[in-house]
Amino acid sequence: MTSPAEPANLMESLVSLAKRRGLIYASSEIYGGLNGFFDYGPLGVELKRNIRDCWWRDMVQRRDDVVGIETSIIMHPKVWEASGHVAGFSDPLVDCKVSKQRYRADQLFWAPVIVDGENDPSIQEALVAKGRVTTGVRERYLHLRRDRSVSTGDHSPGEIAAWLTNRTVLYGFVSVLESERTQADLQEQAEFFKKKWGIKGQLRVVEHRDFTEAKEDEIPLIPSPATGEPGSLTAPRAFNMMFQTNVGAMSDASSVAYLRPETAQGMFVDFKNVVDTTRVKLPFGIAQIGKSFRNEITPRNFIFRSREFEQMEMEYFIHEDADWAKVHEEWIVWCENWLKSIGLPESHLSRYTHPKEKLAFYSRGTVDIMFKYPFGVQELWGIAARGSYDLTQHANASGKPQELFDEASKKKFVPHVIEPAVGVDRIFLAVLAAGYAEEDVTDEKGNVEKRTVLRLSPRIAPVKVAILPLLKNKEQLTNRARALYTKLRRNYAVQYDDGGAIGKRYRRQDEAGTPWCVTIDFDTIEKPGDTFTLRERDSMKQTRVTEADLVALLAENVY
Ligand code: GAP
Repeated sequence: MTSPAEPANLMESLVSLAKRRGLIYASSEIYGGLNGFFDYGPLGVELKRNIRDCWWRDMVQRRDDVVGIETSIIMHPKVWEASGHVAGFSDPLVDCKVSKQRYRADQLFWAPVIVDGENDPSIQEALVAKGRVTTGVRERYLHLRRDRSVSTGDHSPGEIAAWLTNRTVLYGFVSVLESERTQADLQEQAEFFKKKWGIKGQLRVVEHRDFTEAKEDEIPLIPSPATGEPGSLTAPRAFNMMFQTNVGAMSDASSVAYLRPETAQGMFVDFKNVVDTTRVKLPFGIAQIGKSFRNEITPRNFIFRSREFEQMEMEYFIHEDADWAKVHEEWIVWCENWLKSIGLPESHLSRYTHPKEKLAFYSRGTVDIMFKYPFGVQELWGIAARGSYDLTQHANASGKPQELFDEASKKKFVPHVIEPAVGVDRIFLAVLAAGYAEEDVTDEKGNVEKRTVLRLSPRIAPVKVAILPLLKNKEQLTNRARALYTKLRRNYAVQYDDGGAIGKRYRRQDEAGTPWCVTIDFDTIEKPGDTFTLRERDSMKQTRVTEADLVALLAENVY
């Protein structure tokens, strides 16, 4: 019997499991780690490899219209000029001059503290003196609210009367870093502010905005999240996220190169090579799996946003007159189905369609598949319709046309592209988060104990079957177990484990996400039929199976 329990802090439980079971370590841990970089341990590397292999098999090997490539991480610097990354691959950066902390402006939220009620001029003066507000900004807020309320009529006459008698006052600003609780945190901060300064009256529900929306005269009034004091945050500036390096012995401007921030440009730059050396015909895709590097301002949420990560991207080239919206939708559905095929529950998946006005100028549409991570619903997989932007840019910059010939119209054209782009590490974190459970388990004797289980799909589980001889010092048992182990491991990742009580060994495998355990017991060797106990991870049900049954089970579920 089991009773599942959601751990109080799922993210903490995942980080702890990852360390304890050799899934993920901090990079260079003995030197204190390096923010935004991670190592995958023995169990983690198997899981990660399985995610990649499943994707490659389904995306490339099992399709007739997609081929794979592997391009270099450092490419000609002109690639990144043509693609627009040198000029525009940046995030808005804010410095706190006092704490020396750096923030992404679009992840730093702030709100005005506006109170309706008794207005004590001495408090206002004190706040002006402390640099929390200026009379100019205070007046502007008052006028804005008056104008808006009068013109839209969305406030009661009482409210308007209060403002007109100057009883609605802006006292200052509060700020927080983005989280699941951004709005609630800001409201709490505003309550605290009001209490601290002895302000009477009714605090308004705060309206939050990110720091990129702050006006020039508001910036000095917004407190730094590090110090709680205003005056130290700089105006946002563009920070290019590409890591620079130098190629060759000279370290000057002529030798500057970049670690790629996406794998996609490899596919565009090799487009003609692939067309000329294979038999691909439109529509077709070029896929690649590989490391990408971004000097993220705020790497966070474990492996969700890191500085070195792995991408699986595919550029699907279509005719310029093709129905791009239809192909786009087909790829979104393909990606959703693929995520489900490796065990992500539908309940955790959703779509986010980028609003038209926020799309890059070359993009016709972008839909993100979102996943419900422990820290909120966040982007897992982006599927973008990029038009002919990339090929056209490279044709112009290199002087080498990137066109195909259309037999029907007898005209040359530049193909358009649909791009599904996903991070392996984000999938890794998603399968951990969706699969992790702590359960109270009651055994036949009525004893209750806790088990931690990782419900990973057999497709990606690091170990598919654990082979457990009931006793380690009974040669008949160990011989049969070894024989089975040797046979199965030709095709599958299997583990031989003879250490400790059988219950303990089951728990060990539950935590590692192993879908099945096979126990070689006395019935195996004494009774006819050569059967084993097959113990299923999720239900913990035990049945007796033959070797042929086990092989069939694996063939059916591990693909
Ligand atoms: N070629 C398009 C492109 O790179 P993107 O949305 O910037 O688009 C694609 O990245 C995917 O790569 C994201 O959906 C995410 O899964 C993953 N990704 C991006 N930045 C990442 C980071 N810093 N850490 C981990 N994964 C990241």
